[in-house]
Amino acid sequence: MTRVLSCIQPTGDVHLGNYLGALRNWVAGQHEKEVFHGIVDLHALTITEEPGVLGENTLELAAMLFAVGLDPEVATVFVQSHVPEHPQLGWVMECTLSFGELSRMTQFKDKTAKREGNFISAGLFSYPALQAADIVLYDTNEVPVGDDQRQHVEITRDAAIRFNHRFGDTLVVPEAVTPAAGARVMDLQDPTSKMSKSLGGAGCIMMLDEPTAIMKKFKRAVTDSESEVRYDVAAKPGVSGLLDILAAATGTTPHAAAEGYTQYGPLKVDTGEAVVAMLEPIQARYHELIGDPAELTRLLQIGSGRARTVASTTLSRVYDAIGLVPA
Ligand code: TRP
Repeated sequence: MTRVLSCIQPTGDVHLGNYLGALRNWVAGQHEKEVFHGIVDLHALTITEEPGVLGENTLELAAMLFAVGLDPEVATVFVQSHVPEHPQLGWVMECTLSFGELSRMTQFKDKTAKREGNFISAGLFSYPALQAADIVLYDTNEVPVGDDQRQHVEITRDAAIRFNHRFGDTLVVPEAVTPAAGARVMDLQDPTSKMSKSLGGAGCIMMLDEPTAIMKKFKRAVTDSESEVRYDVAAKPGVSGLLDILAAATGTTPHAAAEGYTQYGPLKVDTGEAVVAMLEPIQARYHELIGDPAELTRLLQIGSGRARTVASTTLSRVYDAIGLVPA
């Protein structure tokens, strides 16, 4: 079966755009292919936080992944630092890639430019080698990524091909694939931009927002000075953004969702209510899990256990191919 790996860094809270645009597809996809979902906490070390913050963020993200419907018996949801083979193979990948190649990574250049004068860790530089290890450890066939990560999958392919060339056929060469298209979710205050917390927050629905906060954000959503409800992204971005969300939350198309509405007020209220209803069971499950650390740990152990079984086999194959002395 095709094996798919997706990873996310545990940085910050999940919002409606992340859910409807991506996470919901992960849930649907878990029954189609063999999926691994890593919470890559070690990658997040490249951003310095107070002690404890990273762990907290990791548990919160894990609870959210299970709450939206990833089934630990079906999808392998694991924490990167629970699988020591990641940094172990990461070192081998660092020794497989060159200084020049890593120096040319766009993300590294961008990030170092932004942090000029500040602390730039060596980890920020070798980050793609750890990412390559994440990917090849699971004999991954497909890595669904956005454009910003394509170069990292490309360098992973280069590393795998080079390793195989030096040591014999050992690693599966992965492919970057375009993720299944999720819903279009635009910011409620800036409907020509994707929903984002960094646009100010008032136009961004967080997965854990209370119903009253959600309703308030929808009621204040930016529309236009007409009063016709019609799906027309170019001419009516605000109204169309609401229709996109309403359609995604109720399982219809934006054009169909527009039918019957003659005013913006009811559209806003109905969209808000549809989102509240959609999020309610997710929030309930999330709070249950966050309130039960033993259960959350148990669920993560299922994933980490399964991940380690695969990862340790790959690492042994790599060490054997190199010809390291067996332990
Ligand atoms: N670098 C990715 C990001 O910033 C996260 C990531 C780490 C990743 N390891 C991965 C993505 C492996 C896909 C596969 O989004």
